Amino acid sequence: MPGTLDSREADLETLWDAGATGLEERAGLVRAYFSERADLPLDGEWAEEPEQDWQEQFKRDLKPVPAGRFTIVAPWQTAEVAAGSTPLVIEVGMAFGTGHHATTRMAVEALSELDMSAVGPVVEGRRLARVLDVGTGSGVLALAASMLGAGLAVGVDIDPITIPAAFENARMNGFTDSGTGVVTNPETGGKLLFAEGTIDDALLSEIGATAYDVVVANLYAELHDVLVGQYRDVITDGGHVVLTGILTDRLPIVLAALEREGFSDARVRESGEWALVTARAS
Ligand SMILES: C[S@@+](CC[C@H](N)C(=O)[O-])C[C@H]1O[C@@H](n2cnc3c(N)ncnc32)[C@H](O)[C@@H]1O
Repeated sequence: MPGTLDSREADLETLWDAGATGLEERAGLVRAYFSERADLPLDGEWAEEPEQDWQEQFKRDLKPVPAGRFTIVAPWQTAEVAAGSTPLVIEVGMAFGTGHHATTRMAVEALSELDMSAVGPVVEGRRLARVLDVGTGSGVLALAASMLGAGLAVGVDIDPITIPAAFENARMNGFTDSGTGVVTNPETGGKLLFAEGTIDDALLSEIGATAYDVVVANLYAELHDVLVGQYRDVITDGGHVVLTGILTDRLPIVLAALEREGFSDARVRESGEWALVTARAS
């Protein structure tokens, strides 16, 4: 298929689900390998290739992604993380959010720049930031928030397959499971949980956390436009939003929505055709 692993990340799940045994990016093409032809709702062409271990080839081609204080890596790449950077281990191919998409990388960078110890209620002399990740996918942003010191990180997603994938990623990053549906960050004691659904009162009440100091969401501009009032409802005064998944030409939609709902100090960063906006609830 034409494109790169970045630009086609949204299609990778379809390829894995259809039985791909490996993926690689070469010369502006994404090659997906199958043992036999599959019926795929994607553009591209089929070609016969001699027998080879594509899984091994794919693993060799996949690169770790430095992002803020982290390097996002597949489970077999932890030894490749440079000293001073924290490995954030994400299994490839289960849910969106391997770090290979610019929006995920920018969101991890933006979270890394927030001071988690400066927001949130004071509990036993420490501020415990509460972070909500809307559209958590692999759980990568909620995991990053927890590893940055959030007292509570909650990831929600309307796609049920993401929830076990996100919990598995938490386990791979050393989070401990007490069997209560909430996992614990062994370094900070912070709590992390993933739940199927979206940012709505019923789900957040069920979780027992209806107020957040940071809301991060990697969705798309038109959906941010619809949801930004709900971000404002759950976010505390002075809290941060980190919004991405926004094509640069749709940025005005998100900036107008943030202004409409009383957010201030909007700042934009861009990577190629993608944008990320941070703003504060005032
Ligand atoms: C682009 S992926 C982002 C994954 C991950 N947070 C990241 O940054 O890489 C968007 C995710 O949002 C989920 N999603 C889409 N609409 C949603 C909604 N209204 N509420 C919650 N999740 C939603 C999708 O199922 C998908 O997993």
